[in-house]
Amino acid sequence: TKVGVLISGTGTNLQALIDQAKRPSSCAEIVVVISNKPGVQGLKRAALAGIQTRVVDHKLYGSRAEFDGTIDRVLEEFGVELVCLAGFMRILTGSFVKKWNSKLLNIHPSLLPSFKGVNAQKQALQAGVRVSGCTVHFVAEEVDAGAIIVQEAVPVLSGDTEESLADRIKEAEHRAFPAAMELVASGAIHLSEDGRVIRRSNL
Ligand code: GRF
Repeated sequence: TKVGVLISGTGTNLQALIDQAKRPSSCAEIVVVISNKPGVQGLKRAALAGIQTRVVDHKLYGSRAEFDGTIDRVLEEFGVELVCLAGFMRILTGSFVKKWNSKLLNIHPSLLPSFKGVNAQKQALQAGVRVSGCTVHFVAEEVDAGAIIVQEAVPVLSGDTEESLADRIKEAEHRAFPAAMELVASGAIHLSEDGRVIRRSNL
């Protein structure tokens, strides 16, 4: 399965996906990495791995629709069949999400549906939860609300800061996202027409 990864920054999740796709057993081939920001570390990670990169700078577009249209064109140019949002900090338009429905995965640093939106780790600390974690889900038009594919829990420790919790959650992200990418790339999991996650028992 040809995979496109969208990033906005450091790309540690991208790195985990790259390492997974390198494994001989992997069904995923990352064919392009697209960043909405120039010069980010994720682009270097892709280049080091010999993966084609493109920068689609959202500041150069008059509308979300034009920005998304360019992203879509790049994905089509590379024959992408599955898109992974790995720390991609843009909200995609409904028409883009509709077109790529069931082929668009996102990772979020909380156990959805808890703590949607930005600073999920801070929300968890403020709520005083003892367990948080990460979620990989299919992207739906409502932000952070799509069908859940993989989750991994992590403990919240006394004295945790946003950074220490984010670091612990990221360790889980780097296991959960590659696992979810493989499940969908291999066909073991897919999204049904009525929006449910279907697991093929024989895969
Ligand atoms: C991750 O914590 C992810 O959950 C959130 O943004 C961060 C991306 O980090 N969406 P990286 O760029 O993958 O290191």
